[in-house]
Amino acid sequence: MRVIILGPPGSGKGTQADLISKEFSIPRISTGDILREAVREGTELGKRAEEKMKKGELVDDETIIGIIKERVGKDDCKEGYILDGFPRTLPQAQALENIPTKKEIVFSFNISKEELVKRLASRLVCPKCKAVYNSISFPPRIPNTCDLCFSSLIRRSDDNEESIERRYKVWESEGNVIIEYYAKKGNLHNIDASLDTKVIFEQICNIIDKKI
Ligand code: AP5
Repeated sequence: MRVIILGPPGSGKGTQADLISKEFSIPRISTGDILREAVREGTELGKRAEEKMKKGELVDDETIIGIIKERVGKDDCKEGYILDGFPRTLPQAQALENIPTKKEIVFSFNISKEELVKRLASRLVCPKCKAVYNSISFPPRIPNTCDLCFSSLIRRSDDNEESIERRYKVWESEGNVIIEYYAKKGNLHNIDASLDTKVIFEQICNIIDKKI
């Protein structure tokens, strides 16, 4: 099974992808996390991606498609995987068609710009284990400390006003094309991403359970 989560920045893609990953024992593949790790390690990929990411612009399709092809070819993806942050452009969606899967379920997260800006302004992330928190809706047990690995939490460098604005604009122009693409394919499920995390997760699980 291939689960795809589409949605604007801050709509909760990573939060839900993590929960689905645990529930269905399939890996979450986040292109954003892969790129951030490459930036942190200073690899060739990281050097190429860093400027674009800081500005909230997309990294080029060829690079991203290459990353996904390599990652889904790994053994842990044999039973399925969740794509968080991919595809983001039409060429990325078309490239995915060359990677066969028995079932593909696509979720489109809908949320107002006002709400996502609020969420991103209060997001905290663990630089080590990648856990995501929110100082308002999902605070860590000990302030600024990861519940799981006890590392100090940080703000993402692209969670600033300018980059959020740019990421949202990019989503508006590219995201609608992708949504239309999957709507035509007939496997798109719209999700009200402004609801409570648990409520959204239940809806998603119900849809997945019916499809598998
Ligand atoms: P990426 O890391 O994918 O960022 P994004 O799409 O901007 O999405 P976010 O990670 O910001 O948000 P999210 O929807 O995962 O929300 P989250 O669950 O954290 O990409 C970063 C950059 O990498 C891109 O700008 C681009 O440069 C590059 N890139 C990545 N993929 C690419 C691709 N395919 N092609 C080209 N370039 C690519 O939740 C947000 C906050 O809200 C958290 O604090 C969370 O705790 C809270 N929250 C979540 N759900 C709820 C809820 N229901 N109620 C209340 N709070 C909630």
